[in-house]
Amino acid sequence: MCAYKLICYDFLGPVMSEVVIIEEIPCENGDGVIAKVTINRPDKLNSLNQDVVNALKEMCSWAEQNDSVRCVVICGASPNPPLEGKRSKPHAFVAGADITEFVGKGSDEIRELFTDNAIEAIWNLSKPTIAMVDGFALGGGCEVACSCDIRIASSRAIFGTPEIKLGLIPGYGGTQRLVKLVGYGRAMEMMMTGNNVSAEEAYRCGIANHLCEPEDLEAKTMEIAQTIASKSMHTLRVAKTTIRAALDHGITEGVAIEAEAFANLFDTEDKEIGVQAFLNRTNPEWKHR
Ligand code: COA
Repeated sequence: MCAYKLICYDFLGPVMSEVVIIEEIPCENGDGVIAKVTINRPDKLNSLNQDVVNALKEMCSWAEQNDSVRCVVICGASPNPPLEGKRSKPHAFVAGADITEFVGKGSDEIRELFTDNAIEAIWNLSKPTIAMVDGFALGGGCEVACSCDIRIASSRAIFGTPEIKLGLIPGYGGTQRLVKLVGYGRAMEMMMTGNNVSAEEAYRCGIANHLCEPEDLEAKTMEIAQTIASKSMHTLRVAKTTIRAALDHGITEGVAIEAEAFANLFDTEDKEIGVQAFLNRTNPEWKHR
């Protein structure tokens, strides 16, 4: 069982702690924590208004600078109980950018808001990131999920890029990252039709790494997060950078980048620790936690 602790922020305003909640979950193997980040606007299906976007950016700087954070898990808050006589809101990871904030905005304002945005900050985290997706992951929500390294989906997850229905296209990197995840043809279909993709289909086409029942989602996600968090932080960073090189380079250049990264790891203490632990049948105690 994980012990949960809500962390306090000196540097974050009250808005941040309302719309983005961070819980520190202790790592099972040694010190450090998994940061569970909950986007918390369930009445608006956790859509990304400017407060959420700002808070996510702050969360990224906090996670990057905080040495104890070994993995970041991002999820959406569960629906609140319905008000009397009202229907319950559906489960959502994030149902996109907050559309109400698009009204009356022109290109200059949007260019500024979407440059160097929170989704790029998540993408640029050097630490491993996992999206735990339960319910709608539409538009900007699909883009938040795609900016994470791994996606774990519940059977009620629904992915989609409906921006075309608003006379728009994805603006948080979706046109690029979705192509890399699902391939050109399927990405074209998703973005040109705006049709949703079921959890099963998302799993089949590689958007979701794992598919599980809603009640198992957190346990499955934390199992993977704990497995990742038990590795050397330095080696994880090198792995992430090297794997990312496959997205930006051709295979010849990418393999050369890997060869250099692989060779450099032989000068690290963690390589010696890992190899000796294997030979001695013990658990490695990484230097670079
Ligand atoms: N931006 C702002 N508000 C949003 C939102 C978004 N992207 N998505 C949902 N909401 C709000 C709704 O306006 C509603 O608010 P209200 O209760 O104050 O009226 C609340 O969240 C619940 O959503 P609702 O539409 O009533 O739920 P539903 O079950 O009928 O439909 C969706 C769910 C996801 C199909 C529908 O909300 C939807 O299509 N959302 C927009 C998705 C989208 O286009 N995202 C891309 C944006 S670029």
